[in-house]
Amino acid sequence: MSIRKQLRLCCSLLGVVAPLFFPASAYAEAHYDPAMRLFRLDGGTVTYAFGVNSAGALQPIYWGPRLAASDKLAAKAIPDLSGFEPSGSITPQEYPGWGGAFYTEPALKLAYPDGVRDVVLTFVSGHADGETATVELSDIRRPLHVTLHYTIDPATGIVGRSTIIRNDTKTAVRIDQASSAAWSLPANTDYHLHYLTGRWAAEWTLQDRALTDGTTVIESRRGSTGMQANPWFAIDRAGLTTEESGPVWFGALAWSGSWRISIDRNPLGDVRVVGGFNPFDFAYRLQPGETLETPVFYGGYSGQGMGGASRLMHRFEMTKILPAPKPRPILYNSWEATEFAVDESGQMALAEKAARIGVERFVMDDGWFGARNNDHAGLGDWTVNRQKFPNGLKPLIDKVHGLGMEFGIWVEPEMVNPDSDLYRAHPDWVINFPGRPRSEGRNQLVLNLARRDVRDYVLKAVDDILSNNDIQFLKWDYNRNWSEPGWPQLDPQDQPKIYVSYIRNLYGILAKLRKRHPKLEIEDCSGGAGRVDLGIMGLTDQIWASDNTDPFDRLSIQDGFTHAYAPGVMMDWVTDSPNWVNNRSTSLGYRFLSAMQGALGIGADLNKWKEADFAEAARMVAAYKEIRQTVQGGDLYRLIRPTDPAGRAATFYVAPDKKQAVLFAFLHSSTKLDRQPNIQVIGLDPARQYRVRAIAASDADSQTQSGAYWMGHGVEIPMTGDFQARGLVFEAQ
Ligand code: GLA
Repeated sequence: MSIRKQLRLCCSLLGVVAPLFFPASAYAEAHYDPAMRLFRLDGGTVTYAFGVNSAGALQPIYWGPRLAASDKLAAKAIPDLSGFEPSGSITPQEYPGWGGAFYTEPALKLAYPDGVRDVVLTFVSGHADGETATVELSDIRRPLHVTLHYTIDPATGIVGRSTIIRNDTKTAVRIDQASSAAWSLPANTDYHLHYLTGRWAAEWTLQDRALTDGTTVIESRRGSTGMQANPWFAIDRAGLTTEESGPVWFGALAWSGSWRISIDRNPLGDVRVVGGFNPFDFAYRLQPGETLETPVFYGGYSGQGMGGASRLMHRFEMTKILPAPKPRPILYNSWEATEFAVDESGQMALAEKAARIGVERFVMDDGWFGARNNDHAGLGDWTVNRQKFPNGLKPLIDKVHGLGMEFGIWVEPEMVNPDSDLYRAHPDWVINFPGRPRSEGRNQLVLNLARRDVRDYVLKAVDDILSNNDIQFLKWDYNRNWSEPGWPQLDPQDQPKIYVSYIRNLYGILAKLRKRHPKLEIEDCSGGAGRVDLGIMGLTDQIWASDNTDPFDRLSIQDGFTHAYAPGVMMDWVTDSPNWVNNRSTSLGYRFLSAMQGALGIGADLNKWKEADFAEAARMVAAYKEIRQTVQGGDLYRLIRPTDPAGRAATFYVAPDKKQAVLFAFLHSSTKLDRQPNIQVIGLDPARQYRVRAIAASDADSQTQSGAYWMGHGVEIPMTGDFQARGLVFEAQ
């Protein structure tokens, strides 16, 4: 008997409700009641329930704060409202097929070769065990089967949903739309929708719009996740929700290819969120006996506002998504210092300087391979450039290791420059439509990873680099989106499978590399944050949040990022001032405090630094090492968002045991001798005494007060001038 079953048995023998014994954060259960045909998932502070209604359809029943075990739940179909609003269309479904009289967004749409395009799914069987539930649905007439998988995370109550579609008919079926899940929210009139949009060097803008009747679509048609929208949403209630209180429903898709999430409110006020593969230009032919599995769509609920929702996401990602969560080493990256002009002596000189300030991982960026002297040539030729490295990479790697740092290297294995030996040998390996132009982005084309030979080449190319050199870390880049997405070697009807097969092969390559090189860590980068989602996060260790390294711009970029993704994976670099993005000048201290809100890196040209810069950087790096666990693994409170009209911003990170906390505060510009209000922090233990001192300062100027004081009275942080920053460390006594 599993431990969980034993615990359940023991609880029922004692006649107690499990959550009394086990903190809500440690217990989850998926339960199926066959008599009522009711499924219920309980985890964290959340209950998610659905069941079979009188029409045999699987209907959502409840998603929100955790209910009592004794609460009675049942699926009740909504009767016809009129001839225009039939029951089957206005009654929410867990996974609606496009068939019958159904007018809202379906999860599944398909076509049979005989012209029938009707799929009506009804319940066949169900099963629940531990933290998972499985439901079998079938079409009412043809052996077209759908299996819904559910998991619930005990700590966060985040539900994972995915679907397998199986064709047991005797003919091929064309799947036109396959979503992972449909989520339903109770009818309300004051919902607000939040999602993240952006562009290169300007990712992670948080959008906020009233959810009124009609549909909002966020999507990528680009073959990868995209910067223009991220597959994450949150819905709150305007009248009830603030940053730290009130209901928020949120979700994120674990998929790194083209995706779509559509959020609609129907005229009855019901809200549905349907997401999965983007149906645009999609078609997936399923032969008899074949299956198509969707990505996982995760969904969660918090009663603690947007801050609570993102803390749940962070905790879930750090414990359930990341392959091997560990504190991030402080890295140095050569890109902004040298761009493509890397060579042995130049990199060695930078490595020596990086080691002086306490860097733990030295990363050589673009330019070390093939004929790569600019972005016009060389991509695809993964052999060391002997003009730049006459003795190969070994002398540099040995030097970096000798300085006590790990060695990492930049790769962009999915791409090729037309000016490369690889492209000259295999012009057919790129994504293209025959006889049509091959549009370039950054002078490069996309290799068709969906092809087996290309997949095998890419795997071998990277595997060889790792096997022939003592490398601990890859920065895996991806610097354009798809165009002309053809796969000419396949039957035209099967070519759109590229949207699925490419990504699955990418995931396969990353998984194999990790298996073959168990100590390897990988950074997910796509010209900044062009491919950030829970799918790629499950195979990588950290994320490059933006090519924009301006420390002031970064405040809003990082604020947007942390709504969906954990500070523990968010790479932030200290770079040169004035910054290349805005020509803005900021102090080294400001740049450090901005970058210390995530996983710290240095990307400055250390050759230009003065002794005083090295001394200050060494102090800040040492100070960061003392707070890194709290910043990367603690609870984040966004105290003052960078949208603040007074130009302030503040974040607060509290260690899980509340023994340490860190406050970062920023001011754009002081004006008119205005005084800044105290900053009231959140999440400390009110009864404990906390000694507070500036980051990288001695205890001499510290002040000790209770957690209650710091939260109630707040912290005085007077700042005057432009681009001011302060960092404070709270240590429990
Ligand atoms: C992308 C990355 C940068 C850098 C360059 C190298 O733009 O986001 O950090 O690695 O490629 O070409």
